[in-house]
Amino acid sequence: MTMRQYFNYQNNQLVAEGVPLADIAEQYGTPCYVYSRAALTSGFQQFAEALKGHEHQICYAVKANPNLAILNVFARLGAGFDIVSGGELQRVLAAGGEARKVVFSGVGKSVAEMRMALEAGILCFNVESAPELDRLNEVAGSLGKVAAISLRVNPDVDAKTHPYISTGLKQNKFGVAYTEAVSLYCKAAALPNLRLTGMDCHIGSQLTETSPFIAAIEKVLVLVDALASMGIVLEHLDLGGGLGICYDKETPPAIADYVAALLGALKGRTQKLILEPGRVLVGNAGVLLTRVEYIKPGCEKNFAIVDAAMNDLMRPALYDAYHGILPVVQENHPVQNYEIVGPICETGDFIGHARELAVAPQSLLAVMSAGAYGMSMSSNYNTRPRACEVMVDGDKVHLIRARETVQQLFAGESIIA
Ligand code: LLP
Repeated sequence: MTMRQYFNYQNNQLVAEGVPLADIAEQYGTPCYVYSRAALTSGFQQFAEALKGHEHQICYAVKANPNLAILNVFARLGAGFDIVSGGELQRVLAAGGEARKVVFSGVGKSVAEMRMALEAGILCFNVESAPELDRLNEVAGSLGKVAAISLRVNPDVDAKTHPYISTGLKQNKFGVAYTEAVSLYCKAAALPNLRLTGMDCHIGSQLTETSPFIAAIEKVLVLVDALASMGIVLEHLDLGGGLGICYDKETPPAIADYVAALLGALKGRTQKLILEPGRVLVGNAGVLLTRVEYIKPGCEKNFAIVDAAMNDLMRPALYDAYHGILPVVQENHPVQNYEIVGPICETGDFIGHARELAVAPQSLLAVMSAGAYGMSMSSNYNTRPRACEVMVDGDKVHLIRARETVQQLFAGESIIA
């Protein structure tokens, strides 16, 4: 079953696993992110099952949703983690993740972050530029350590996704240019405090076809072979994340089919395979609960003003992304066409356009597919405390992040004399 099916209707009520979302809204208030542990577990197990028989490490991309409880669920299933900051490393360690299963991606790693990761003993740095090689070599040397590295190669393939989340084209800031990769590996091989262990690529996010992944693998393998012929033999291939989910009518490949396609393209190669899935593991495992504050008939459009806003879920405003919006309780109100908007003072503050819904003031709505890049991209714009987060596990509900208070928001500020 797809992960979204962990949220379904029973007797006109939207239920997460065994718990009515209306009960959660009652107890914890809104806006509130709700995750299903069973959905998280199912996604991870689909990867593990599909990769059985090939040496691998699934490194969950922390940025998709960094809540400690979520990291802990994955850590207990054996996950490693793909991090992009020292802060994410600290979260992984605090959640019980193992440093030796961590890969560190990102174009701007600071000296302090490199030190922290070396001291923790991570699996690999995914290096994205020549100056980063030099910096890492120096930092590792100063600590008397050797850093395991792979170079993130930009394979120059079109991921056919939203331009803001496409990363594998040569005009993007990510990775090292395909044509320079071999010479950079040679440069790295000559640096005493680096150990070349792998090759990495990540071409974008929310991909709904396998063909760009396969095109990337084929290009990566050409480089792997070129290096091997020069005596640089790599132990692992990291093919990044990027597998898309269904928000609306997309039909991305199932996890099993995606993995089978990757393994097929690897044509019996024995290198350990690292993957960095984010969205596909958490996206449809979470919803954002919100309550209708006002119904405001307009000249041209009717507005349903809800208590969640672009600060809680930025994806619609930033990418014009679509999220399904479902009534938490199927009620007998007149069905109307609504703009679902938040209270923030910006026209871009919308959650959904032109939705046919039977709602009234106080109705609860579930914004679907909100588990990935929802809470993790939230902000305090308009001095809005961030939403709470809960995790449903069977018939139990756990608060995994308390709602922020306004006092917390300005605790670090001071008035000058
Ligand atoms: N690895 C690297 C190096 C990445 O940059 C990313 C995501 C991932 C793995 C995980 O990709 P995923 O499996 O989640 O597609 N905020 C945007 C998505 C940004 C993705 C950034 N990189 C959104 O809400 O759609």
